[in-house]
Amino acid sequence: MIEINNLTKIYGNNTDKALELLRKGISNEEIKKRTKQVVGVRDASFTVKDGETFVIMGLSGSGKSTLLRCINRLIKASAGEIIIDGRDVLTMPAKELEELRKRKMSMVFQRFALLPHRTILDNVAYGLEIQGIDKEERLAKAQEVIELVGLKGWEDAYPQNLSGGMQQRVGIARALATDPDILLMDEPFSALDPLIRQDMQEELVDIQEKLRKTIIFITHDLDEALKIGDRIALMKDGQIVQIGSPEDILLSPATEYVARFVENVNRSLALTASSVMVRPRYVVHPKDGPRTALNFMEKHGLSTLFVLDRFGKLKGYIKAEDSSELTAQGVKDLAGIIQTDMPTTRPDSPLADLLDVMAYTKVPIAVIDDNNKLQGTLVRGSVIAGLAGGRGGDK
Ligand SMILES: Nc1ncnc2c1ncn2[C@@H]1O[C@H](COP(=O)(O)OP(=O)(O)OP(=O)(O)O)[C@@H](O)[C@H]1O
Ligand SMILES: [Mg+2]
Repeated sequence: MIEINNLTKIYGNNTDKALELLRKGISNEEIKKRTKQVVGVRDASFTVKDGETFVIMGLSGSGKSTLLRCINRLIKASAGEIIIDGRDVLTMPAKELEELRKRKMSMVFQRFALLPHRTILDNVAYGLEIQGIDKEERLAKAQEVIELVGLKGWEDAYPQNLSGGMQQRVGIARALATDPDILLMDEPFSALDPLIRQDMQEELVDIQEKLRKTIIFITHDLDEALKIGDRIALMKDGQIVQIGSPEDILLSPATEYVARFVENVNRSLALTASSVMVRPRYVVHPKDGPRTALNFMEKHGLSTLFVLDRFGKLKGYIKAEDSSELTAQGVKDLAGIIQTDMPTTRPDSPLADLLDVMAYTKVPIAVIDDNNKLQGTLVRGSVIAGLAGGRGGDK
């Protein structure tokens, strides 16, 4: 776990005065006017969990790179704490810092400084070489991560033979080769063409599924943040203005600034079934009988009704017209008319994956958990409302 407490970075040569003003709540602008010092990061606090992909996003100049660089002390913070494995990076002795950088963390930049006269294999193995790992072992490890990032067959090529996207993969492979627990990534995909960029985003998600590194990833692109982030921190003027899951950010932006940021995003990317489902208020049990079911449907204006057993597990659904017929025939049991061809999904399914099902189904989508218990239903209205920005569900 990485724990950042009240981290502040002020650029300039008279930071004490600026810090004093900052602590009094004086604005960045005013601090600059009075002291000529620039506030890069202002009193940032957050924790990143093990195995989490934590995205920091914000406009140019909002302090993202400054914050990231403070974490491995490429830049020395002016105040605050950066606790990794219980040790404060800011006050740690040089020797320990060196070890931390060599073994515990890797950084990936927007443009990789690959070594032009070394093969891809040797570029990837470089960090291990610095660690003093013997040749056979480091080449074997390099080979492994090259395959992981999809560059098998390019081991003997040189950087200049590779496209931008491929070079970026080499950079990621190089960062992974030392098997660090923490990856710091500063806009690693920003320089890539949109299509390649999407590939890389998907690949990072795949790789992360396998490796479960702790990743801090910077971007100024909300789509990218939503796609890859477990949680997202939004920065403005050096401050963190909101931290939340992609859904939190989309559904309840904490400030006007965040709201404006999310306005144009493709919402379906981040929304899941659970965020827009309606709680299953309208259900019937097999023993209730067709008359009860029919009354219920008439009362609530429903054409279908889900049937649950007494444990809340989904058995299927019935249609109003079938219930009506059954009632007319005097049949007491619903069993004969329960249909089971309703679409089902899990609470964490992305809405984007459900939109086409939504388009053709005449029955609401049943949201069920691993035990087949009904969690909610998805009706078109609430899905669309969710995508349009309102809160569709009633939870
Ligand atoms: N070396 C420096 N000296 C003085 N001011 C700096 C320095 N580096 C950054 N700054 C200032 O600190 C603030 C934060 O910059 P930073 O580079 O961290 O932003 P960023 O969010 O990474 O922006 P971008 O999206 O453009 O990379 C800006 O006002 C910037 O001008
Ligand atoms: Mg930056």
